[in-house]
Order: sequence, then structure tokens, then C-alpha cells
Amino acid sequence: MASSQAAFPSVLSSRDSADAPAFNGVLPSGSWFYTTAAIVLSLLILEQTVYRYKKRHLPGDNWTIPLIGKFADSMKPTMEGYMKQWNSGALSAISVFNIFIVMASTTEYARKILNSPTYAEPCLVHSAKQIILPNNWVFLTGKEHVEYRRGLNQLFTRKALGLYLNIQDVITRKYFAKWLAEAAKDPSAKPIMMTARELNMETSLRVFCGNHIPEHGAKEISDKYWMITVALELVNFPLAVPGTKVYAAIQARKAAMKWLELAACKSKESVAAGNPPECMLEEWVTILNDPAYKGRREFSDHEMAMVVFSFLFASQDAMSSGLIYGFQHLADHPEVLAKVREEQERVRAGDYEKPLTLEMMDEMPYLRAMVKETLRVKPPVTMVPYKTTKAFPISADYTVPSGSMVIPSFYNALHDPEVFPDPEAFLPERWLDPNSSANTNPRNYLVFGSGPHKCIGIEYAMMNIALVLADAAVLLNWEHEVTPLSEKVQIIATLFPQDGCKLKLSPRQHA
Ligand code: HEM
Repeated sequence: MASSQAAFPSVLSSRDSADAPAFNGVLPSGSWFYTTAAIVLSLLILEQTVYRYKKRHLPGDNWTIPLIGKFADSMKPTMEGYMKQWNSGALSAISVFNIFIVMASTTEYARKILNSPTYAEPCLVHSAKQIILPNNWVFLTGKEHVEYRRGLNQLFTRKALGLYLNIQDVITRKYFAKWLAEAAKDPSAKPIMMTARELNMETSLRVFCGNHIPEHGAKEISDKYWMITVALELVNFPLAVPGTKVYAAIQARKAAMKWLELAACKSKESVAAGNPPECMLEEWVTILNDPAYKGRREFSDHEMAMVVFSFLFASQDAMSSGLIYGFQHLADHPEVLAKVREEQERVRAGDYEKPLTLEMMDEMPYLRAMVKETLRVKPPVTMVPYKTTKAFPISADYTVPSGSMVIPSFYNALHDPEVFPDPEAFLPERWLDPNSSANTNPRNYLVFGSGPHKCIGIEYAMMNIALVLADAAVLLNWEHEVTPLSEKVQIIATLFPQDGCKLKLSPRQHA
């Protein structure tokens, strides 16, 4: 109280002495008010000063909205909003909840951030740690991360991918049969947003865990997984209490982990019984049991389950986005679909039941180009947040302060007109000529990131999207019901067409 009075002497002295008794009565609360106001004002000025000091000459608002900054924009992100920010400069600044953020829009800056592990490391949204568990390997950095990841690379060798391909083919055909049966009952166009997600989920679960998870377990994981996707918003209610999205996501993770741990345990038993590996977990156990293997050997069921969960977490949304846009692009470009079909006819030689093999996939360069192009035009992941662990001299005239967020954009690199002429156009042909600017500038292809945290599942992801579209090309006809929202992008962690891509399916007849 004494200090608050001292802080406002002029207010006291300006009062008439006749007011004194009454004034004495209200003095304490009035004084508190002024003190609080002074503190709040000082903090607000400090906030603006710190923001301006960190931002220096970078483009971006000169003032940040007190406390929340651009919170409202981050709640409902739009491509238009991001574009505006990226177009404001190669580096630009914003603030959200007092987190100072530098957005990097060029290929060079994006690559520099991703490839400077001594200055910046991935920064998953706050809720991610609660959902994936803080001791999950994905939170490792530096040497520890490199070593852990080296062991996991064994799960994506060509030999391993060959094992997964057959599972992918079987599940895809099973789902197409189901989709066609549903379309026979009701042939109207329906959004494939959720059905494509279900297909991806079952494919991933069977590739990772084989048949060690019963049907109802797979269904439980799939049904609850949406809770995890929606809890990944940039800003969420910080406490995981019942009723919040993060709480629901944690329950979903617990349910998934129970089944994944069971799968790890059963995989160990199967390999111990002398069975050859039939899924990723069994392949992993087989590698660990190999006396020639030089890496770490002991992995508990829980640790293996956490790795599998990290793969589900990293892949489910991105793969679904890639697949949905793949269907949409093919439907909207019948000339491309015709070429994909021609290639399929040639490779399959009229046998549409024959399971696909890696060798057959190798003979489909047009399909590969098409998948590369669909992921370029609509990259599922447009940016990945990193955070600076120390002051990061990103350019000759700007240093990102320590503890800031730095967010490289992949979108601009993938839509650079110098490298991809007519960048919005869907042109798989640009990938067919080894001397094309697309092929001679691999630095721009940031769909899967770059540097030590570059996506570990690239080959598997590309192969899965290619396989599903290859099977679709020969088994299905699909018509896209174009709506005013088809070209509008919805950002739910990854990109999706706002209308969920409405397709009318029918079986493809062969002569
Ligand atoms: C179209 C599908 C996919 C896209 C677009 C995609 C994209 C990405 C991107 C942009 C990153 C961050 C890279 C960086 O920071 O430089 C990433 C990381 C990662 N991805 Fe993918 N991904 C896809 C599918 C998959 C699949 C299928 C898996 C696993 C089976 C997977 C597992 C991971 C993991 C574990 C990381 C973190 C790697 C690390 O920190 O070392 N992703 N992915």
C-alpha cells in the first residue's frame, strides 16, 4: 500500500481537503487499481519493446496484440494467411502468446534451419509431448538422436519394404471391395476423407504389427485416432483435464499403446519360435537377434510400441492427405490417369489379381512421377516448427534470438517458378526428364524435410501412395464431384480439400 501511494502522489495532492474522509475510505482499493494498472502497463510496454527488439528490421506487424499476439490466426490457419506472411519477406516475424516466431519462406533459409542442429531443433506443439510420451525417441536430439535413428533405418531397407508391399496390396484390395459394396448400395458421391484415413490406418497397423492385433483392437485404434489428430492444433488448452482435446488424445494413445505392446510381445514370441518375419516388428526383432548386428539389442515391448506409435503419429495425417489429393488430382486430370492406366496395363499384362512386387513397382516410372508431383502441388506438410537452442545467425544481418520458434516453409520451395515452371499446374512429366529443372534442383523438393530429422518413412510413404493409386487405377472408376470448396485447403495438421474430396466410385470393367 505504501508503495502504491508513493507511486501516485500527484493524484493524492490534487484532491480537496474536504474530500479527505470519503477519500480515505476509497483510498486502498483506488490505490491498488493504479498500482495494478501501472504494473500491467509496464508489462505491456515491456512486451512490445522485447518484440520490437527481437524483430529488428524484419517485416511483420510493428506492434503485437497484447498477450495473445496472432493467436486468433493460429486457431484457424488458412493458406491465404500463410501466403501473406511468406510473401512479406524471406524472413518475417510474428508473436503468438509471447512466443517470438520467425517465418522463413525461401528454400535457402528453410534448408539452413533444417540443417543447423547446433542452433535449432524440431519443436513439436506442446500437446505432442503429452500425447506421444516425453521419453519417445522422436524427442531426442544431437548424437543420441542420430544413433537411435540409425537402428530404425533398418526397418525401411529395400528388403523390409518388399515384406510390407504384399500387406499393403492385400489391405488396399480389401478396402476397395468394401468401398465398392457401399457404392453399390448408394452410388452418390461421398467424401473420402475418413475412408482414406481408415485404409491408411489399417495398412499401417498391419505393416507395423502384422496380425498380432485383433480386428477389434485395430478398430479401436482407428476409431480413437481422430482424437489425436485434432489435439495437434498449434494452441490447445494447456491442462489435460477431462473434456479437453488433449485429454481425449491421451486416452486414445493409452488404448493404442496397449495393443502395440501386445504386438511387440507376440512378435518376439513368433521370431523366437523360428518363424520368418512377416511385419515390421518381427523384422526388427529378427535384426536384433542377428549375431552380426552391431546396434543396441534390448528393447522392451513398451519401447518398441512407442517407436511404432511415433510412426503412426508421424504418418497417419500426412499419408492420408497425400492419398486424398492423389485421388483428386487423377480424377481432375483424366489425361494423367490414362497414362497411369497405360503403364499399369503394360506392367500387369492383363493380370489384375496378381499381387504387386517391388520389381513391378520399379517398372512404373510414370506412377512415381505422378506421386512426386501430387505431393509437390499439395505438400501434406507445409512447414515444420523448429526452436532455436541458442542465438542463430541465420543471415548476414539478422540473428534469431535463442528460445524463438523458427518455421521453415516448404510450400514456396515446392512452388518456385524458376524450378517448377507453371508451379500450380499438376504436370508429372516434369519429373520424367532427368535434365529438367525439377530433377536438377533436388534441394527444392522439401516434401519430407531435410537434414537430421528428415522423414524416415519417405520410401514407404511414396510406395504406399503409389500402390493404392496403382490398384485404384485398375480396379476402380472414380468421378470427382467438384464443389466450390474442392480447391480450397483446410489445414488440420496437414492439408486437405475443404469438401473432403467427394468421389463417386464404381468397379472398373476390363475387356
Ligand atoms: C506423405 C507422407 C509423409 C510426409 C509428407 C512426411 C513428411 C515429414 C516431414 C516434413 C518431416 C519433418 C522433417 C524435418 O524436420 O526435416 C517428417 C518427419 C518424420 N516422419 Fe514423415 N512424412 C510422411 C510419412 C511418414 C511415414 C509413413 C513415416 C513412418 C512410417 C514417417 C515417419 C516420420 C518420422 C519418425 C519423422 C521424424 C524423424 C526424426 O525426427 O528423425 N513419415 N515427415
